[in-house]
Amino acid sequence: MSTLPVISDPKTTQAEFQIGYIWVALATAVFAGFAIGAHLAFIIGFDFSLGRGFAGLVQTHGHVQLVGWAGLFMIGISLHIIPRLASVPIANPRWIPRILWLMAGGLLLRSLAHPTLAYRGESAFGYWAVVGSGLLEWGGVGIYVTLLLRTLRGVRDAKRQPALLSVRPFFATMLAGWMLYASINLLLLFDMAWRGDVVMDPAWNQFDIEIFIGLVLLPVAFAFSSRMLPLYLALRAPDWPVRGTAYAYVVSLAVQVIPSIPLVSGLDPEVARIVSSLGSLLKGGVILWFVWQLDILTRCWDAWTVKREVAPLPDKRPARWGLPDYGEFGRFERLVYAAYTWLVLAALFEMLVGGASLLGNPLPIATDAIRHMVLLGFITHLIFGVSVRVIPGLLKKRCVASVRLVDATFWLGSTAAACRVLPLLAPSSLIDAVPGSALIAQAAFGFSGMIGLVAVTCLAMNLWKTAVAE
Ligand code: HEM
Repeated sequence: MSTLPVISDPKTTQAEFQIGYIWVALATAVFAGFAIGAHLAFIIGFDFSLGRGFAGLVQTHGHVQLVGWAGLFMIGISLHIIPRLASVPIANPRWIPRILWLMAGGLLLRSLAHPTLAYRGESAFGYWAVVGSGLLEWGGVGIYVTLLLRTLRGVRDAKRQPALLSVRPFFATMLAGWMLYASINLLLLFDMAWRGDVVMDPAWNQFDIEIFIGLVLLPVAFAFSSRMLPLYLALRAPDWPVRGTAYAYVVSLAVQVIPSIPLVSGLDPEVARIVSSLGSLLKGGVILWFVWQLDILTRCWDAWTVKREVAPLPDKRPARWGLPDYGEFGRFERLVYAAYTWLVLAALFEMLVGGASLLGNPLPIATDAIRHMVLLGFITHLIFGVSVRVIPGLLKKRCVASVRLVDATFWLGSTAAACRVLPLLAPSSLIDAVPGSALIAQAAFGFSGMIGLVAVTCLAMNLWKTAVAE
């Protein structure tokens, strides 16, 4: 973690990239998020007794994966990219390490205290610790949101910053989402301590998770994808209506999520179900439209480089086919393609579930399966792919340390996601009909977490080796 004062690049007056966010995100993933996920999946997959602390451990896993793994990665990258997109220096560079300290402290406390509380039973110290973790994270998020708002206020004429303008609704959604998530999380922890329970209120916890995925993770992923992927994958220029798509996304998300607020859904559960299903259909449609326009899986439009292409100089080796690099970052594009394939699958399943529920025929597809398609399939693979492509440059290195580790991350990550999700989607008639398939599905699920843990460890080793390379 960076303890150094934040240095500004004298040429651009922009703060230097803070690699500490990436190390803390990776450490949280390896030692808490994926490690607990591996334990949970093993226990469920091989039918061990769940034990009384199980539900508390599930909540800890969900929280540290969302905030520690995906969230910290996105905070680190956003603090670097958003000021550059806006062409303004960050408002208070000295706040950057403070956010990290608060978040890391909160996550550490939560990873230790919540499972201990869940397994060892109620203790005043345990309750103080979990509420303290929520407070530290709330403080970190508050500073982060204030810092970005103050930075963006420095933009004099937003119309002259088209790159920022197109993705601004996504960033606004993200900032609101962070504040909402951290506030609900703190209230839920406080309520848990007040009631002397060892798990947060399940309905509100599920709602908070949906808030984080829908308002924070997906909007940031869409904003960065639409600005960065055309550059790294030679896609079409982002001259399609990104801003309009962002508004459509926010409206569809509101239609889906507002009826599932526990207070609202209690008023008229039937109407809430119908409206929320309609929202799922709409949101799935908007996501498919986004992926189609991004052109990442279809490649129907000309690359933005097409008008600039010139024959390579005689002594210059040609770039990889259809890509602007020479292979120095490994086959990182496969991780990004895998991410978007999982996103398309998740959107299709969400539409299927929403449509069936609208027609009054609910399908037996677990929310957990679609959620992990998004979180492990899409978000995690996007982080895997973008980090090996972007972080070497931010560390002023020309290439990633090991292209083999990039391949290993791809194969292990894809296997982990398939093993985590597909057994939950296999129809029971198929499992009954094919001898041995139940055992295979159980084993795949049981080992999915360990495979995921090895995948994220490969990424961590690769980035570390890149950072220390001469
Ligand atoms: C191979 C990797 C993973 C494994 C084996 C795994 C396993 C699990 C298991 C067994 C559950 C409990 C499901 C249930 O109660 O029905 C769970 C819940 C959850 N997981 Fe994962 N997971 C993995 C990756 C991830 C990632 C990468 C994220 C986020 C970025 C994530 C976020 C969540 C969330 C939010 C929940 C719900 C927590 C709650 O109900 O409070 N998981 N996971």
